[in-house]
Amino acid sequence: MSRIVLLCDSHIRAGEAGREAAARLALAAAAARRLAPDLIVHAGDLADDGAPESYAMARRALVGAAPLWILPGNHDERGALAAAFPEAVAAEAPPFLSGVRQAGRLRLVGLDTLAPGQVAGRLTPAQAQWLRARLAEMDDEPWVLIMHHPPCALGMPQLDRWPFEGADELLWALAAAPHPPLRILCAHAHGAHEIDWRGLRVSVSPPTGPLFAPEPGEPGLRRHMGAPMLRAIELTPEGLRLRAMPALGQG
Ligand SMILES: [Fe+2]
Repeated sequence: MSRIVLLCDSHIRAGEAGREAAARLALAAAAARRLAPDLIVHAGDLADDGAPESYAMARRALVGAAPLWILPGNHDERGALAAAFPEAVAAEAPPFLSGVRQAGRLRLVGLDTLAPGQVAGRLTPAQAQWLRARLAEMDDEPWVLIMHHPPCALGMPQLDRWPFEGADELLWALAAAPHPPLRILCAHAHGAHEIDWRGLRVSVSPPTGPLFAPEPGEPGLRRHMGAPMLRAIELTPEGLRLRAMPALGQG
């Protein structure tokens, strides 16, 4: 069996204000490690402000969480992230932090969708070309696509007002693969969502940070401080199995 654990949306900020976020990430990272995965993936918004000091704090929270792979979210800063985690970011598609990893039998294609200065994610023409080339190299291996931003609407007006740029180009690039991804794994929405996007299954992972709950008729998103969450993704003989779970102590 191949197993990865997905963490996301930790929003670490250096200093007293970020102490709780760091403690939550450390709890989630310890829970991830106990699952003995082939790879722990952080799917973005590791830092809240992209500052080097925040990544240093995140690094302390993630100590022992290995092997680790980090993809950037809209709150991250590529240079500071790569400087703090040189062993955990992909260096094969500069200046983007996109890459390909193998976790047991499962191939992971990670897409850097960060567009500096904006909330919305973006697939640039260069990135689409990179993705197309990686997918064209594949044979019949099972694979998943991992990207911070969901490429589709979630039914949450508070987030859907920043639509992903390049959704059609992404679909077109995916056509270069010999077969579709088993799942598109995303983050960014601070909650678990399952979406059927033009025949592809998109799974949004819950955060180690606060959960966002849309309130009907309210323009904003209410924050709920439940337990930090993580998601185990396993490739079994029966197919891909996803489990979201809270990080609770040493259990
Ligand atoms: Fe985000």
